[in-house]
Amino acid sequence: MSHESDAFVFFGATGDLAHKKIFPSLHALVRRGVLDVPVIGVAKAGWGLDELKQRAHDSIAEHDDAFRHLLSLLRYVDGDYEDPETFAALKRELGGARRPLHYLAIPPSLFGTVVTALQAAGCADGARVVVEKPFGRDLASATRLNEVLHSVFPESAVFRIDHYLGKEPVENLAYTRFANTFLEPLLRREHVHHVQITMAEAFGVQGRGRFYEEAGAIRDVVQNHLLQVLALTAMDPPAEHGEEAMRDEKVRFMRSLRPLTPRDVVRGQFVGYRDEAGVAEHSTVETFVAVRLHADSWRWAGVPFLIRAGKQMPVTATEVVVQFHEPPTRVFDRGTPNRLRFQIGPDLRISLDVRAKTPGEGMTGCDESLVLDERPHDEMEPYERLLGDALKGDQQLFAREDTVEAAWRVVDGILGDATPIHFYEPGSWGPAEADRLLPRGAQWLTPRLSGDQA
Ligand code: BG6
Repeated sequence: MSHESDAFVFFGATGDLAHKKIFPSLHALVRRGVLDVPVIGVAKAGWGLDELKQRAHDSIAEHDDAFRHLLSLLRYVDGDYEDPETFAALKRELGGARRPLHYLAIPPSLFGTVVTALQAAGCADGARVVVEKPFGRDLASATRLNEVLHSVFPESAVFRIDHYLGKEPVENLAYTRFANTFLEPLLRREHVHHVQITMAEAFGVQGRGRFYEEAGAIRDVVQNHLLQVLALTAMDPPAEHGEEAMRDEKVRFMRSLRPLTPRDVVRGQFVGYRDEAGVAEHSTVETFVAVRLHADSWRWAGVPFLIRAGKQMPVTATEVVVQFHEPPTRVFDRGTPNRLRFQIGPDLRISLDVRAKTPGEGMTGCDESLVLDERPHDEMEPYERLLGDALKGDQQLFAREDTVEAAWRVVDGILGDATPIHFYEPGSWGPAEADRLLPRGAQWLTPRLSGDQA
């Protein structure tokens, strides 16, 4: 399905996501000349088109020609999602559009109601649907959600957003791996000691306490963003042909991961989280998690994959580090092991930590960093990239049903209170208990920030 969508419909048009991400992305798409079809907001807010335009005005920073053009494309349907009249009104607004893209920026509990009503009103034929994370809250609910979507839309018309897949540094990671022959033979058990991924955020839940109580770090960022990044780091090279080649390899890797058990998990909560609005007094929801994963594959058997993610950490940075084995004999002085680093945020940087000889008589060395690529920030926001792809019908950067379910299978056994919660001070690297997950002699690595030297 590679035709262009001829209308963009977004449910939840008056909500937070629309304000923060969707309007700015639509504006950028109009500016690039990618979006020139009716844009129909749907919500139950008692609003009219003028209020929606005002919302767009507040959400978009620059009121240029592209902004005015976006306003001219904008339509609005107000109504209850339970009411067939809402969808009849949408059908009228769609006019002659035959291939609309429906973006469900609404809670997953409403997906079923909306997709069924879209079908009943004749708005689903030839259409695509974009859904937001969280995609389910465990394997069983994700499977049910997929069934609901598939009752109306085939998988080829379902676009599940994981905004990490729309990040330039994440795409660059996959590109670097498969566009260079020197790297590929090294990324396997014979050479790799372990892999670590850190996603650190130097802020708390930012007023989203109620949402976060339902999520926690495992559901919020590990099941989706970080397992996707790990898959891109460790999956086998995709075949040359076929639109699904990348996603096929990704799911193969995801399925090779052993389901996590409490032994391989440490959960933490920052001191003060329980005082946040919307958070239970005795909440045991994790704001930090560290996990140790194993892939049962010929390529990776025995290599630990460590992931840690936390709020209220000392810095905001996300980084993947592949640490290689140390030289097997000690010919010269011992230094830091070789490490391949993919810095994903805040800036993109791909580098290789190596040892180099210090000039002079002694055979001693120092740590150097070979930089493969470095860029200060994303040129395109992930949402702009992903919505543009969805309008074109390109699914490559969207999470496929089988991968999402395979990722839930990995974390299903450690959700909720399967493990105790350890408290940590804001501004620290989380509970010390996380150290027990490390292989002998290894340490958690502080993510680099741009400008940091080797
Ligand atoms: C979101 C999570 O999916 O990703 C947030 O819900 C998190 O809790 C955010 O802060 C991080 O995204 P980014 O792009 O800022 O790294």
